[in-house]
Amino acid sequence: MRVALTTGGGDAPGLNAVIRASVLAGLNRGWEMLGIQRGYGGLIGADEVVPLTRASVRGITNRGGTILGTTNRGNPFCWPVTRPDGVLEECDRSDELVAAIRARGIDALIAIGGDGSLAIALGLFEKGVLVVGVPKTIDNDVGGTIRSFGFDTAVGIATEALDRLHSTAEAHDRVFVVEVMGRHAGWIALHAGIAGSADVILIPEIPFSVERVCEKIAERERMGRRFSLVVAAEGAAPVDGRQSFLEARQTGRERRLGGLAGRLAHAIGEQTGKETRDVVLGHLQRGGSPTTHDRELALRFGAAAVRAVADSDFGTMVAWRPPDIVRIPLAEALHEAHRVPVDGDTVATARELGISLGD
Ligand code: F6P
Repeated sequence: MRVALTTGGGDAPGLNAVIRASVLAGLNRGWEMLGIQRGYGGLIGADEVVPLTRASVRGITNRGGTILGTTNRGNPFCWPVTRPDGVLEECDRSDELVAAIRARGIDALIAIGGDGSLAIALGLFEKGVLVVGVPKTIDNDVGGTIRSFGFDTAVGIATEALDRLHSTAEAHDRVFVVEVMGRHAGWIALHAGIAGSADVILIPEIPFSVERVCEKIAERERMGRRFSLVVAAEGAAPVDGRQSFLEARQTGRERRLGGLAGRLAHAIGEQTGKETRDVVLGHLQRGGSPTTHDRELALRFGAAAVRAVADSDFGTMVAWRPPDIVRIPLAEALHEAHRVPVDGDTVATARELGISLGD
């Protein structure tokens, strides 16, 4: 049995732990384990596939990034190709990829990725490639699983940032707007905001009003609390507006979100007269060592993915449904993103703590 691992999309703390557990569990079954480098890019017009041995996965559980070199967001179903006239266009190179997988003698693929990469995995499965998926994203928005690995680390980093910003906000009577990741789902903002005692939490699931945010800041002012912390998921949008993007969509990649904290800080400053600063945590949330929880979850996911391959349970994704790691069809995982339920317990907790959701 020859099994290849591929990672797609942005990195997430715990990626190397998944790789380690999959490789060890596969080698223990006498399988040959391979790693495809640069996401699917390693097999499209290239042959960047490396053997993964015990030595390759030694001591990597606590390491950030990925030992597979780089990961990338390229989609073989709409791959960016430069035409002879220099114009970049998208072209379906999935058949080429499937042929390369077969030519390499790869029997099964363990695809570690977020919604985009898992949709590619499903597309490949529909073309006959035997695939098992592993949910990876710090945003925690992959459907069908309570958690993706990487999320816990990101929340810890965002919470620590809020703790640190508290003292400087208080020392200067300032408002801080802290932008965290979360394209479609506000899990990081919500969990870090509650744990880090934010005054306002803005998430993509609840359109916000700048006026309501300012009312909360003014209310605190009246109570003698002359500083405030606003945590905003980068994908949050105002009731009457759209998400903030840094650039227009570029061929072959998702449009980059960004700019919300800056805009919001400006508007809050204008409306409240308070000195307001913006802080964008960005990739600090993705880099570095995973927490204990993420290591454990990632190791369990990796081992479970190999068990799914051993059971020939393909077209599935491993998912955490506490206390167990289960398998669900990839199609089910992709059916609906895992977004924050606006009438759920966590949002209710935030409201009961007096935190404004900007609505
Ligand atoms: O991994 C998902 C994510 O964290 C999104 O929240 C964010 O928009 C995106 O990655 C940014 O990643 P990059 O800068 O690597 O494209």
